Amino acid sequence: MEKRELLYEGKAKRLFATDDENLVISEFKDDLTAFNGLKKSSETGKGALNNKISTELFKLLENSGIKTHFVKMLDDNHMLHTKVKVILIEVIVRNIATGSLSKNLGIPDGTILPFTLVEFDYKNDALGDPKLNDQHALILGLVDYQDELDKLRRMARQVNDILKPYFAEKGLNLVDFKLEFGKDKDGNIILIDEISPDNCRFWDIKSGEKMDKDRFRQGLGGLKVAYEQVLNRILGK
Ligand code: C5P
Repeated sequence: MEKRELLYEGKAKRLFATDDENLVISEFKDDLTAFNGLKKSSETGKGALNNKISTELFKLLENSGIKTHFVKMLDDNHMLHTKVKVILIEVIVRNIATGSLSKNLGIPDGTILPFTLVEFDYKNDALGDPKLNDQHALILGLVDYQDELDKLRRMARQVNDILKPYFAEKGLNLVDFKLEFGKDKDGNIILIDEISPDNCRFWDIKSGEKMDKDRFRQGLGGLKVAYEQVLNRILGK
């Protein structure tokens, strides 16, 4: 499957058309951004690591009954996937308090939450991705029905129920993550984007070491080594 015209360039990926109107190709970039694009850098090989990690996780989720946009990995930096209409809601799932949850609500960093928290953020860089409640999402027309918001939450919890024990077996705490969803040509809601250390937080269960983009956000260094470790643990190496 050949890349055709560039459809969209995001912070971490470029999206290309293909000869099939229902399929597109994502190119995973090496660029790193944080704090809504204020902090920028690049790490050679980061895109390929995220493509490989996402490929493995999409396969795992598909095999567990979650519908995703994944079709196949084409090469190190390219993934073929279904074209969707993106739902402009970032679905954040949290098992342990850290990041913006600790900052906004004063819940001490590292607190194990009494139940899994699912939040919605408005995917809107100009507004700084503000928090949304269900009524905001409906008033903005981000989805048509309350049922669709319920479905996003249900699917996000299912993803957590699959990934949390999967990573625990590999010695990683799945602290929190962000999911995105879209509607395919038949109007079905499916999981899209990527699932990688760029949008998940992983803490090593034994050492507590951060194995995700917080290494870049917090200037800790060693980002690529951490991403490689995540991939190697997924591959059982
Ligand atoms: O920053 P915050 O604590 O809200 O992030 C929660 C989770 O969502 C983290 O895993 C982070 O990587 C992810 N996230 C993301 N893209 C955003 C905001 C958060 O991937 N725009």
